Amino acid sequence: MEQPAEGTDRTRPLQAVTGATNLLSRVGLPSARVDAEILAAHVLGVPRGRLALVDGFTGERLAEFDALVARRAAGEPVQHLVGSAGFRHLELAVGPGVFVPRPETELLAGWAITLISPGSTVVDLCGGSGAIALAVANEVPGALVYAVERAPAALPWLRRNAEERARAGDTPIHVVEGDVTDPAVLAEFDGRVDAVLCNPPYVPAGVAVPADVADHDPRDAVFAGEDGLAVIRPVIARAAALLRPGGIFAVEHDDSHGMVVPALLRADGHFTDIEDHRDLAGRWRYATATRTRGVGSEHRRER
Ligand SMILES: C[S@@+](CC[C@H](N)C(=O)[O-])C[C@H]1O[C@@H](n2cnc3c(N)ncnc32)[C@H](O)[C@@H]1O
Repeated sequence: MEQPAEGTDRTRPLQAVTGATNLLSRVGLPSARVDAEILAAHVLGVPRGRLALVDGFTGERLAEFDALVARRAAGEPVQHLVGSAGFRHLELAVGPGVFVPRPETELLAGWAITLISPGSTVVDLCGGSGAIALAVANEVPGALVYAVERAPAALPWLRRNAEERARAGDTPIHVVEGDVTDPAVLAEFDGRVDAVLCNPPYVPAGVAVPADVADHDPRDAVFAGEDGLAVIRPVIARAAALLRPGGIFAVEHDDSHGMVVPALLRADGHFTDIEDHRDLAGRWRYATATRTRGVGSEHRRER
């Protein structure tokens, strides 16, 4: 715990957090209080839950906090300001050039993690920071995990997080530089993969997104053609090819696609057990399916 030096005038953290919350609320940030607490905890070097217990900001630390709050008010994501984002049990390095992992994707990862057996082969198409791939490596003992990413700006973040988690003792993942729509990528695994997981770009071009997404998430991580399905369509075909019979597939999608993506999976003809799932806000968010067990049997099974 920080001790106040005798005679110094320190601002109590919660007092500073309240001021920052008011400022961030005035600019319309819905997560004002949480953001202010995260920034205060970052500057003071304590967990968020201990803010009430520490003694306070020195003048220098308070200036640092105020500067971060001003940058947050101007739209910079709080995760960029502190340099990391939480995802399930992990803290992942993020910053300009890489998509900040979102809580809704934790649900997709969690769905898969409960079903994946130890030692399974898992492919994360559209790796980004490595959120899904590294969560699987962290939670499924001995999983052989591949993460495919094409963006030159995202790959260093992915590699950095992969190295950090391997140093922390998780099974190392394999980073593959490539285009997830290219049938040659990981083709050597076709028919042998136990789980294909994917959080692709999926927002239809022209749809307005919040300013922090528009200004700070890479465009290629967010938008996917006129209808938002430009990556999902080929990814469904790649999942069908990669998966072994009985292997599982999960793909995140735009909340307007809760009917469309399951329909694409049915139309593909290689999947059964097709379902869509809601996120914590009740919006349709990801589709799941199982690779059929034999050519020709899939249509009989679904009738
Ligand atoms: C929405 S982000 C998801 C990142 C991470 N899986 C997560 O959930 O936080 C999509 C990622 O896919 C990458 N991407 C987009 N199109 C791709 C493609 N055709 N091939 C490989 N990666 C692609 C983007 O660069 C971005 O990192």
